[in-house]
Amino acid sequence: MTRMDKNAPHIICGGLIALDLELSVSGFPVAGAKHKAQASRLVGGGGALNAAGAIVRLGGQVTLYGAIGDDDLADVMRARITALGVPLDQVHVVAGGVTPHSAVLIEADGDRTIINARDDMLATGLPPLPQPFGYDAALVDTRFPQITHALLTAARAAGKPAVIDAEAPVRLVQDALHHASHIAFSVQGLTDYAGSADADAVAQVARNLNAWVCVTRGPDPVLCHDGRSAYEIPVPAVVAQNTNGAGDTWHGAFTLALAAGQGERQAVHAANAAAARHVAGLAPCSAQDGV
Ligand SMILES: Nc1ncnc2c1ncn2[C@@H]1O[C@H](COP(=O)(O)OP(=O)(O)OP(=O)(O)O)[C@@H](O)[C@H]1O
Ligand SMILES: [Mg+2]
Repeated sequence: MTRMDKNAPHIICGGLIALDLELSVSGFPVAGAKHKAQASRLVGGGGALNAAGAIVRLGGQVTLYGAIGDDDLADVMRARITALGVPLDQVHVVAGGVTPHSAVLIEADGDRTIINARDDMLATGLPPLPQPFGYDAALVDTRFPQITHALLTAARAAGKPAVIDAEAPVRLVQDALHHASHIAFSVQGLTDYAGSADADAVAQVARNLNAWVCVTRGPDPVLCHDGRSAYEIPVPAVVAQNTNGAGDTWHGAFTLALAAGQGERQAVHAANAAAARHVAGLAPCSAQDGV
C-alpha cells in the first residue's frame, strides 16, 4: 500500500479522541512532592485517534468517528488530528462538552501511566453513522458504548471485520461484544472481564462469544484463540522509549491487515511489528517490512 492510496482499505475508527500531555519523568512521582519533567509533548491521543493515525501512517484510509467539546482545547485538538493526516469530517463538536484530555507520565523504561478526563455523555448526541456502511472494517474502543455498539453492528451486518480494542471496563459494552468478529483485549481488559488474562481465559471468551480473541501483553507474546485452537505470536524485542498508544497502534495495524484480506496470524505479526516500531520511537513501515 502506498500513502493516501485511494484503493487502500478504508477503516472507520470510533471512540476516544483526546489530547495527551506527555511528561517524561526520571521516576514515578512521590506523593505530595513537586517534580520537574525532563521533556513534555502535547499530542493527539485516545484509542480511536491513535489507531487512526497508525492506519494513515501505514498507508490506509481512515474515518475517525467521535466527539470533542467546543471548549478552549477544541482548536488544539483539531490541529493535532489534522497533523496526523486524519480527516475531521466525522469528528463531531458537542456544545458545552469538554474535549477529552489526559496526563501521561512516561518513565525512563518507556512505561506509561495515564489519567484521562472525559465526559461520558459526549457521545450521546452524535449524528447517526453514515449509511450504508461503506468501509472495509470497523475498529472501536470501549470508551463510549453508543459508538462501540453502533459501529460493530453496522460492520458485522455488512460482513466486514468488526474489531474491538477491549480495555477495561469491558462490561459496559457487554452487548456490543456479541457483534464483534475480533476481540483484542489488553491484560487489564481481560482481567477485568474474565478474572484472569491467561490462555484459559482467552479460550473461554472465544468460545462464549463465538469470535476470534486475543490478549496483548506488552513485550510478551500475544495469546490468541480462534474458537478451535490457541496459539501465541511473539513480539519483536526492542528498546522501549514510549509505550503510550502502543496498544492503539497495534489495533489500527491489525484491523488494516484484516481489511486488506490477511488472515489473523499475519495480521497479528503486522500489528506486533507496527507497535514495536511505535514503542521504539522508529518511523512506521509497511506491514511486510517487519521491524
Ligand atoms: N516493550 C515493548 N516491546 C515491544 N513491543 C511492545 C512493547 N510494549 C507493547 N508492545 C506492542 O504493543 C502491543 C500492545 O501492548 P500492550 O499490551 O502493552 O497494550 P495495552 O496494555 O493495551 O496498552 P495501551 O493500549 O495503553 O498502549 C503488544 O502486543 C506489542 O505488540
Ligand atoms: Mg490498549
